Amino acid sequence: MKKERKEARKIGVDKRFLAVTYGCQMNEHDSEILSGFLEDMGYTQTNELQEADVFIINTCAIRQKAEEKVYGRLGALKKLKKERPEMIIGICGCMVQQRKVAEKIEKRYPHVDLIFGTHNLHKFPELLQEALESRKTVLDIWPRRGGVVEDLPKLRKDGLKAWVSITYGCNNFCAYCIVPYVRGREQSRKMENIIAEVEGLAAEGYKEVTLLGQNVNSYGKDLSEKFTFARLLENLDNIEGLKRIRYMTSHPRDFTWELVEVIRNSLKVCEHFHLPLQAGSNKILEKMNRGYAREHYLELVNYIRELIPQASITTDFIVGFPGETEKDFADTLDMVEKVRFNAAFTFLYSPRKGTAAATMPEQLTEEKKKDRIYRLIESQNKISREINDKLKGEGLEVLVEGISREEPAGVVLTGRTRTNKIVNFKGKKELLGKLVQVRITEPKTWSLYGEIID
Ligand code: SAH
Ligand code: SF4
Ligand code: F3S
Repeated sequence: MKKERKEARKIGVDKRFLAVTYGCQMNEHDSEILSGFLEDMGYTQTNELQEADVFIINTCAIRQKAEEKVYGRLGALKKLKKERPEMIIGICGCMVQQRKVAEKIEKRYPHVDLIFGTHNLHKFPELLQEALESRKTVLDIWPRRGGVVEDLPKLRKDGLKAWVSITYGCNNFCAYCIVPYVRGREQSRKMENIIAEVEGLAAEGYKEVTLLGQNVNSYGKDLSEKFTFARLLENLDNIEGLKRIRYMTSHPRDFTWELVEVIRNSLKVCEHFHLPLQAGSNKILEKMNRGYAREHYLELVNYIRELIPQASITTDFIVGFPGETEKDFADTLDMVEKVRFNAAFTFLYSPRKGTAAATMPEQLTEEKKKDRIYRLIESQNKISREINDKLKGEGLEVLVEGISREEPAGVVLTGRTRTNKIVNFKGKKELLGKLVQVRITEPKTWSLYGEIID
């Protein structure tokens, strides 16, 4: 691997690349790896498509809309490729991991030079080399991941917060979800490799890591050593210099009571629980193959709040799953009232070819789905605002992450609380990367305004 990277180094000198990413943090992190490879080859990053010698689109397949955006973008690139035929246009990620989609793109968009999937990301330097030498589109989609590949280069977005993969793939097969088909079965990284990576990041000055996996709670189940997510958190909590540990995403079925206790006892694991509920009706949860009932979810939430009263709890909802009646939807609204989430991501159900739900009877009309999602958002927003209003006057720890804007009167900084709320406040640029105490003066629905406590 090292040798290949060295040889590849020559090809990008004085050249530029641009990578755009659709989808989740895992995809964003994959793009950091692609960017790392390109940087190793000598390419420099640009934000201007017009001057990019290599343009990579890293795609998502989670909803139809995500795919439509990519087709729109591919169509628009035809003209640019005509003007600059030496440019390489590459497409990768979850959408093209579906072989049929990859073949369709190869046929309909001949100006695309390189098409590869999620399982052979680590082969990118060779694939790029091949695309540069070939006159035809290079298409390489692997049916499955060969195993966990370590030591890939990464060009991370910033020097403060880092994403760290802990598992790849998903075994859950929720009835609506494409992820298991495009990311393969669960494979965990060895605990020692994760710890070494996080130690390295802390030594470089990173303050926060977010551990990535489609279901972080099942971390280690595929490893012979039988490591658990709870043990991993305990180990990472001891790393010097690191201030905050987050993770994405956890499955309510697999979130153990023990894990809540480990988080309560840890110093660095943040008091933010993102627990995708998806629906409030037990009938729909069963059809979705989620593996838990609303009662279990409520028990888990109660336990979290009992042990960690300041915890924030956020969720994902899918509205309009096949067969969802007005009564089922009322159960979702009821869960919003009962749990009182800090925030929720809400999605219209989008049928994905190949998943169980796509062929279920009683698919809902877009109109019905939209009507329900508006009602859900309205109900949740009211609660988010009420919860935030209660924070007025409180002093909270904020990691200063960036500059929101510069006004004549001073700089407005932006950061997050441990509970993952965005806080904007006036302060000096030197505070970037530091932990500060901020008193909340003006809560809003999705963010908070405050002032530094000296
Ligand atoms: N692994 C994560 C979710 C990844 S996808 C988990 O299990 O929680 C992120 C969110 O997209 C999901 O939580 C779900 O709410 C939504 N989603 C997934 N498939 C969808 C579909 N077909 N239509 C609409 N929303 C979907
Ligand atoms: Fe999709 Fe379910 Fe796996 Fe999440 S747990 S990625 S929703 S199949
Ligand atoms: Fe999309 Fe793939 Fe993530 S389908 S949500 S980019 S795992």
